[in-house]
Amino acid sequence: MASPILFFSVLLAASSDASYALILGIGLAGWWLAAPNAEQPASPPSAYPLRSLLLVCIGVLMLAHLVRPWFLAASMSGSTGFAENLALAPTILSSTHQGTLWYLNSLGLAILLVTVLLGRKPVAIWSAIGALCLIAFAKAASGHAADQGDFTLTELTQLLHILATAVWAGSVLISGLIILPRLARHAGIATLWTYGNRLSQTVTWALIVLVLSGIYTSDRELNNSLPALWTSTWGKILLIKVAFVLAALSLGATSRLFCLQRPATGRRTTLLLRLILAEAIVMVFILCLSGLLANTAPPMANM
Ligand code: HEM
Repeated sequence: MASPILFFSVLLAASSDASYALILGIGLAGWWLAAPNAEQPASPPSAYPLRSLLLVCIGVLMLAHLVRPWFLAASMSGSTGFAENLALAPTILSSTHQGTLWYLNSLGLAILLVTVLLGRKPVAIWSAIGALCLIAFAKAASGHAADQGDFTLTELTQLLHILATAVWAGSVLISGLIILPRLARHAGIATLWTYGNRLSQTVTWALIVLVLSGIYTSDRELNNSLPALWTSTWGKILLIKVAFVLAALSLGATSRLFCLQRPATGRRTTLLLRLILAEAIVMVFILCLSGLLANTAPPMANM
């Protein structure tokens, strides 16, 4: 793939992965904020700019979706010609597997937008979850994991990977960049600690799913050959990504062990905010590396 096309394809993948993760993260943050507990009244999610941020993320996802047929054409034709690839896009949409998935993703995005406009009604929440699963399926089925057909174990595993990684990446991004700093300024320290523990517990479950799914998909795409991890370009990108994941993991573990599992104090609050902000920044690198991985041919493709 010509380098400018590769650069913009990775940017497209990373920005849509980040927006998707943020949408899931905002949903979870709203839920954790709204859930009261014994000591603390609920802190109203409306006190946070979650709804407008949600609409911005859906906007970015839709924009990435609208330009995707051109990039599909560019990766198939190998040309960077704007008009040439634009002319190819209708054929791709009408007669390829990627075209069918594009329409499926359009449906998911339309349902997601309607549910956000409907607000927090129970039907809206379940439709939003359905739409997010549909978008994750379309993504898993349009990536390398679907090279051996649809509804395979590899594709299902990649679907679980996309959902679990969005839970971790999305909840850490929204909490580290917006929620926790605001809770520290406007709510009691106990509310912040309750929110932090809900975040940490949920991320722990997501972590189990994403590591197992990540290892399975990696093994498949490395053609079950470990040396390909350090001899192939795809393998080397994966190694760098896993190094960043280990950094995020150690930041998360430090927040949990040295802050959240101890009594809340001013000093620990400052440390917690810094650790989760650092984890959010590392997450941005992981999402960019995941976008690069998705746009690089894995060893399995050379079979
Ligand atoms: C915070 C942790 C992680 C995040 C946020 C993350 C995120 C993602 C995302 C968004 C994708 C889809 C990329 C795309 O199609 O555009 C992906 C794909 C993938 N991830 Fe992860 N991931 C994480 C951890 C891991 C780990 C620990 C492993 C390996 C053990 C792993 C292995 C993979 C593989 C093999 C793919 C498929 C790439 C391809 O399509 O060729 N990921 N990841």
